[in-house]
Amino acid sequence: MSTKPAPASAQTSARPVVTIPHLLSLMHSRVPIVMVTAYDHPSARAAEAAGVDIVLVGDSGAMTVLGYPSTVAVSIEEMLMLTAATRRGTTTALLVADLPFGSYEVSDQQAVATAVRFVKEAGADAVKLEGGGSMSVQRAAAVVAAGVPVMGHVGLTPQTATALGGYKAQGRSADSAGSIARGALALQEAGCFSVVFEALPNAVTSVLMPHLSIPVIGIGAGPDTDGQVLVFHDLLGIRAGQGARFVKRYADLQDAMDAGVAAYAADVRSGTYPAAEHGYSIDPAELSRFMETFLE
Ligand code: KIV
Repeated sequence: MSTKPAPASAQTSARPVVTIPHLLSLMHSRVPIVMVTAYDHPSARAAEAAGVDIVLVGDSGAMTVLGYPSTVAVSIEEMLMLTAATRRGTTTALLVADLPFGSYEVSDQQAVATAVRFVKEAGADAVKLEGGGSMSVQRAAAVVAAGVPVMGHVGLTPQTATALGGYKAQGRSADSAGSIARGALALQEAGCFSVVFEALPNAVTSVLMPHLSIPVIGIGAGPDTDGQVLVFHDLLGIRAGQGARFVKRYADLQDAMDAGVAAYAADVRSGTYPAAEHGYSIDPAELSRFMETFLE
């Protein structure tokens, strides 16, 4: 059997739209589910070309594309704009949008109203919200009851990283692992169609997996989950610094972008760009006529 991947066009051209039942069938067939973040039309197109199953408009976009120091500041309007742009490039993958911090915590009504905006105004197929505590579980149940599919998220939940003691692995004590386990099960009970496990010891994930009947998507949670997610900019090397332990870089696009823009700047300054082939021509007779009228 050839190990060469099919060209992107062959992988996606005839692909039906990814649905929640399809994700369940992948899980039951033990076919790993691929999820990646995207925040705009080009990143969505790259995810589609790769045949990714789930595209997440993560609130990580607050940092990767909007330049905030954390995910906390991003607004509903900003996330709606990123989601709508991503929708326009996502033709078959399931499109999930993160509910930003402050947009669902106040009440079930607030959570439902925000979730509905992501579906109606930005074209999301589902939303994700963070946390496995009683508030998050209740909000997830309310949003599911309103007809919007919800993905949960436990372990390291960046919106509440300060309360968790910073951006670090969770579930490394029996108490912490127990509370994450209870949260994941409660989110499943609340009707979430899937849950993200972020930054958990592999062994904790393996203990939990047999107790979950919805697809678990891991990020820094080991190989035993039903699928994996990475942040687009992390996997493509479009950010400064090393990134988290679980990040694997598949490209170094920041270096390529820096070099490309530097070469352009050098060409403009040296007069090398634009060259003859970058210009437009005009019929000499038209030019003469123009000069006669304009310069008379
Ligand atoms: O915002 C995000 O990118 C996420 C993923 C890391 C799961 O929530």
